[in-house]
Amino acid sequence: MQNLLHPGEVSVPRHLAIIMDGNGRWAKKRGMMRLMGHRQGAKAVTRTVEFCASHGVSILTLFAFSSENWKRPPEEVSGLMDLFASVLKSERDRLHKNNIKVKFIGDLSRFSDKLKNAIASLEQLTEHNSAMILNIAINYGGRWDIMQAAKSLVSDALANNIALEDINEQSIQQRLAVIEDVDLLVRTGGESRISNFLLYQCAYSEFYVCDALWPDFDEEQIQLAFTYFNSRERRFGMTSEQIAKK
Ligand code: IPE
Ligand code: IPE
Ligand code: MG
Repeated sequence: MQNLLHPGEVSVPRHLAIIMDGNGRWAKKRGMMRLMGHRQGAKAVTRTVEFCASHGVSILTLFAFSSENWKRPPEEVSGLMDLFASVLKSERDRLHKNNIKVKFIGDLSRFSDKLKNAIASLEQLTEHNSAMILNIAINYGGRWDIMQAAKSLVSDALANNIALEDINEQSIQQRLAVIEDVDLLVRTGGESRISNFLLYQCAYSEFYVCDALWPDFDEEQIQLAFTYFNSRERRFGMTSEQIAKK
């Protein structure tokens, strides 16, 4: 593997978010069932988590199942649920050993009690870990996230815990499932759309689309994404000259 990351030269994004797309096409190309693509995709998750944790990414947020993915054929949805349960079990010790704090984001109420218990137990086990925060988005939608933040604000306002004048962008953001702004958003599988991922949090993220299908996403691909990130000038509405003076 060509090593593109030279310590001191390339800075890694503080918060990296990934839309892991292309599992189905990966399997189809090989004449396999879509579920085989998802299984292979789980290996790319392990690889990516370890790479990010060992290269100083602070927060990694992965889109594993969207609120729209329930519309898929029932056998694919149930296969994915089984896969989540088995990965939760097989990766539990490794995640903890690697000092990773795991958090699940999304509307978890729709999942089975068994899955909910496994999720709660992994979150609890890794609660005090500090190497990297790993957010796994399941039954997640960016619109759902904004809606639940709005609901929480209204409920606080009705209980007189917050005044109307104190409702601002920060008070909304603090109630989101993921509070931190995304620095780099990567989407594999070649599509350049956000598919209802972190709508609020991606307001100023850099966006990198790569053609590699998710199961093929490896260290080299991720280094290319980081190199791209490093080549961007993040202006946040300012001019290039203003940025140079900072
Ligand atoms: C992403 O891969 C995984 C999930 C949405 C669960 P896809 O299953 O969407 O793969 P393609 O886009 O059909 O290739
Ligand atoms: C987005 O991928 C969701 C995940 C990666 C979990 P999709 O494959 O569901 O997105 P669309 O439907 O093609 O936009
Ligand atoms: Mg897809």
